[in-house]
Amino acid sequence: MSSQKQETIKRLTVPDIRARKGGQPIVMLTCYDAPTAEIMDPHCDVLLVGDSLGMAVHGLPSTVGVTLEMMILHGQAVMRGTRRALVVIDMPFGSYEAAPETAYANAVRVLKETGAQAVKLESGATAPATIDYLVKRGIPVMGHVGLLPQSINIDGSFRAKGKEEGERARILQSARDTADAGAFSVVIEGVAEGLAREITETIDKPTIGIGASAACDGQVLVVSDMLGLFDWTPKFVRRYADLRGEIGRAVAAYADDVRARRFPAEVETYFSKKPVSP
Ligand code: KIV
Repeated sequence: MSSQKQETIKRLTVPDIRARKGGQPIVMLTCYDAPTAEIMDPHCDVLLVGDSLGMAVHGLPSTVGVTLEMMILHGQAVMRGTRRALVVIDMPFGSYEAAPETAYANAVRVLKETGAQAVKLESGATAPATIDYLVKRGIPVMGHVGLLPQSINIDGSFRAKGKEEGERARILQSARDTADAGAFSVVIEGVAEGLAREITETIDKPTIGIGASAACDGQVLVVSDMLGLFDWTPKFVRRYADLRGEIGRAVAAYADDVRARRFPAEVETYFSKKPVSP
């Protein structure tokens, strides 16, 4: 955010989002850099610095290679670009699973070094104990159930979850445990409408869906998907723009102009002052 815009910052808070259960739908998108954050901030309730930045920004094959340092760097940028939205930062793979104490030390780093208000972690088997530990020590946590992208090496693919009864029951239980442990809201990723509805009706915290139907209390998308930056769009994404096409056309036009010596023109050129005649 530029220095002229230093007016009082009044952000949405964790209790504000928590209070939206069953009310006005929560608008959340991922965000990774300051200029985009500045554009998105007036329109969104929550900006998630997702570890999807591994693929969306750094060209990694999955989120597994994302580090705490990367999350902090992008988190700082998004905080500089925002003044209204609640900013939540993903805890990357390997930064919270081993022990609640390690998760606490890493989450404290994230909040202290970025100024963001909350962290998100994928609710695997160890998550409830860790969420409980963090929340009791002053760290707000958003949970994440269903498809867990950080488990790609166990799952082998990013297919939707909960289609078979055993898995469906495990996801429902995981959502209950996540909410009971003190998460202020829960992302539900890649599950059928019936399961998303049951979770949303069962837990007392707002659910935020991605590929999880309109039954959730809010929606989140990866911003690069909804802006059309990739050449492939998953079924659950609506493309609101074609930035890949726009950027391609703009760069091709620039390249043509440079090669044809049409750029820069006189208006885009500095000239030295004419000497004043005596
Ligand atoms: O990292 C991310 O973008 C996420 C969303 C899929 C919710 O966790």
